[in-house]
Amino acid sequence: MRRSITRATTAAVALAATPTAFLAPSIASAQAAPGAGTAAVRVTPADAAKWWHHATIYEIYPRSFQDSNGDGVGDLNGITSRLDYLKSLGLDAIWITPFFKSPNADFGYDVSDYTAIDPQYGTMADWDRLVAEAKKRGIRVLVDLVVNHSSSEHPWFKESRSSRTNPKADWYVWKDGTPDTPPTNWRSIFGGPTWTWDPTRKQWYYHIFLSKQPDLNWRSPGLRKAMFGVVRFWLEHGAAGFRLDATPYLFEDTSWPQDPDPGSEPVWLKPYNAQLPGTNEVLREMRKIVDSYPGDPILLGESSTRSIEQLRAVYGKNKDEIHLPMNFLVGNISKLDAAEFKRRYDEAATKLDGLTPVEFFSNHDQTRQWTEFGDGTNNDLIAKMTAALTLLNPGTALLYYGEEIGMGDMDKAELAKAPLGPNRPQADARDRARTPMQWSAAPQAGFTSGTPWLPVDSRYRTRNVAAQESNKGSLLNWYRDLVKWRNVDPTFRTGRYVPLESGDAGVFAFARENANGTGAIVMANTGTGVVTVKPTGWTGAAPVFGASVCASGKWGGGLTLAAKDTCIVRYRR
Ligand code: GLC
Repeated sequence: MRRSITRATTAAVALAATPTAFLAPSIASAQAAPGAGTAAVRVTPADAAKWWHHATIYEIYPRSFQDSNGDGVGDLNGITSRLDYLKSLGLDAIWITPFFKSPNADFGYDVSDYTAIDPQYGTMADWDRLVAEAKKRGIRVLVDLVVNHSSSEHPWFKESRSSRTNPKADWYVWKDGTPDTPPTNWRSIFGGPTWTWDPTRKQWYYHIFLSKQPDLNWRSPGLRKAMFGVVRFWLEHGAAGFRLDATPYLFEDTSWPQDPDPGSEPVWLKPYNAQLPGTNEVLREMRKIVDSYPGDPILLGESSTRSIEQLRAVYGKNKDEIHLPMNFLVGNISKLDAAEFKRRYDEAATKLDGLTPVEFFSNHDQTRQWTEFGDGTNNDLIAKMTAALTLLNPGTALLYYGEEIGMGDMDKAELAKAPLGPNRPQADARDRARTPMQWSAAPQAGFTSGTPWLPVDSRYRTRNVAAQESNKGSLLNWYRDLVKWRNVDPTFRTGRYVPLESGDAGVFAFARENANGTGAIVMANTGTGVVTVKPTGWTGAAPVFGASVCASGKWGGGLTLAAKDTCIVRYRR
């Protein structure tokens, strides 16, 4: 499975060394070949020890990516059929959200068999083929592992709830009480109490999410062994690692304190329900297993935290827990706010002890960045800005399917009309960000030949992959260029992050700088007017600025940029 990044051919080394990279940046050549995707050649700097230090990982919601059999639900074979497109984006890995057997109370995040593929998504043979074909294209495949809870339909839970003495009696979190009063007043993340009464055991069981998602008890040695078995199973079946779902919640405070203000936000980060110490030990053990497999598999964590200090802790005191905890401090930013960008990216670069930050804006649980940040007039420019922030910052970047063409959330009214049925048993407000991938202007956007499980967003006729392929200035080709710079340009691969003051409250600026003093300044103008930036913050000689590339395609010269534009200006000293 290991992706070879050791193919540092002469050409790549020459790119790293050439001083002309200053005035004729690789950006220029990337633009000259829009849509060409990432060249096979990658720069392999000495400190790019592991593939995941500089990776671009693309999240796929399999229900919505590509249907191959006309049942209206995307599937593994559909993903396989789109691998050439994924390769053209220059990706290192894809993360596929759960495709295991599931009654779909929470679309796959309620797992009823961790080692079986739900027939809606395909078979084990389909999985093997996907992994093999992805490998041929240099793409790793990550499995989404739901470690905090299973489905209430999982045979483990059925056995556990059957009596207080069965072999799996302690695999879930059970607590005595009377049927009228839950043991604590804690709130579930999805609303309502975190406890459900079980009439057979005459006990309560704990669930931080739906009552159909009982929490697994990581204090139970039997459960631990079984879940670690699942980890080994997927590693042995070609997974390049895991996106770990809901890791903060593996343990609860078993002194079961009452909360004086249970509804206060965020209910998902209470001292009694999140980040309890036992979590570190479990993750260390899991990390050891993962590290014992060849090909550098990884743990990518859904690690919601309140602060950068808490995020630092998720990597492990000895850097031996989660390889890549997602930075929700950036991911949760909801306004185009230069000061907030500066605060969050600066701290990620300077307060994580050099560990790899993981930056993103969109995923299957939250509003897409197109909708979150778009102002209705400059959405494409703004989308290019958020892409540049994610992709030109140090560390690993996560993209969510469709963001590269500017897919937005489905309008509320349109979503309200979306029918329910066997393929969509219940409405979920998050479905607004899960509409089918918009491949072309063909019926159903080329997603399915049948009736899609969720309607295609009505904007697909003009906003689709095919329409943007041939347009040099499209958002899609901007993404490709940025990923290409990440992959082949030392400045964006390993250049250090230099926090800067832009001199204008509406402009966020930072630099990436190589050891030899060359680098690039990235400037994002969130404001409404033309601005000339006067950046400060360098130590040593003042930089001499050179060529620039702007999201608008219109560079006015120097460090001047238009409203909502993002410019990348090369420099040397
Ligand atoms: C994670 C998933 C989300 C799911 C929840 C419960 O937050 O990203 O989609 O609903 O876990 O499994």
